[in-house]
Parts: sequence; structure tokens; C-alpha cells
Amino acid sequence: MQDHLAQAALAARENAHAPFSGFRVGAALEDFSGRVYAGCNIENATYGLTICAERVAVFKAMSEGARQFRRIAVAADHATLTPPCGACRQILWEFCGNLEILLVNLQGHQETMRLQDLLPRPFDASFL
Ligand code: THU
Repeated sequence: MQDHLAQAALAARENAHAPFSGFRVGAALEDFSGRVYAGCNIENATYGLTICAERVAVFKAMSEGARQFRRIAVAADHATLTPPCGACRQILWEFCGNLEILLVNLQGHQETMRLQDLLPRPFDASFL
């Protein structure tokens, strides 16, 4: 039986719009009240305007007023568990801090880590 957040990320992945890469990703961000904000990657014919699943989840949550986040699950169909890209690490740090990250794949493999392990020495608003 999988963690409910992993299940939410896997379900969100079903909505991915990835006609160019074929690489479908889902994310599910949980706030401290337990509410879950899901996202999937949405690609664009210009390629550069593509947005990752993680950022969709963060921006949905922010736009609905959520501010304090406990963890995010990221789901993809790859034997190597798929971590957030560099841009998403920066956005996650900015809005979620040292978040717990749960990576899952369709084979049911899982791994948890902290954002700080993926983004050491981050730049953020504390410098400004
Ligand atoms: N992608 C994500 O949505 N999240 C990740 O963590 C890695 C990459 C998407 C972006 C693009 O639509 C596709 O996967 C291939 O890079």
C-alpha cells in the first residue's frame, strides 16, 4: 500500500501533457494542514515554455493561499527515480524551504530526501 501522497502524484501524472518528450511526470505537494496540491508537466511547442509538474503544484498551492509545506511527491516512469530539475529545486527552496521530497516510480520504488541535499548552498531572499 503506497503513501497517499505518492498515489496523488501518480494520479496527477495521468494528466501530463507531454507530446514532445513523452516523459510524463506528476507531483503532489502537501501543506501542513494536510491539503494536497497536484501538478503534472505541461509541454509547449516552443519547448522553452514547458512547465514541470513540481512548479505547477507549487504555483497552484501558492495561488490558493497555501504557504507552509510539509513534503512533495514526484512520480515518473523511469527505473532511476526522477528528482526535480534545477529550476524546480530553486522554486521549491524559495516557496517551501527544506522540504521532504518523496520520489516514486511506476514500479513502486520510493526514496525520500531533503531539498537541501539536492540544492546545497541555495541562493534566496535572505541575501537581498
Ligand atoms: N519534468 C518534470 O515535470 N519534472 C521533473 O522533475 C523532470 C522533468 C518534465 C519536463 C518535460 O516536460 C519532461 O519532463 C522532460 O524533461
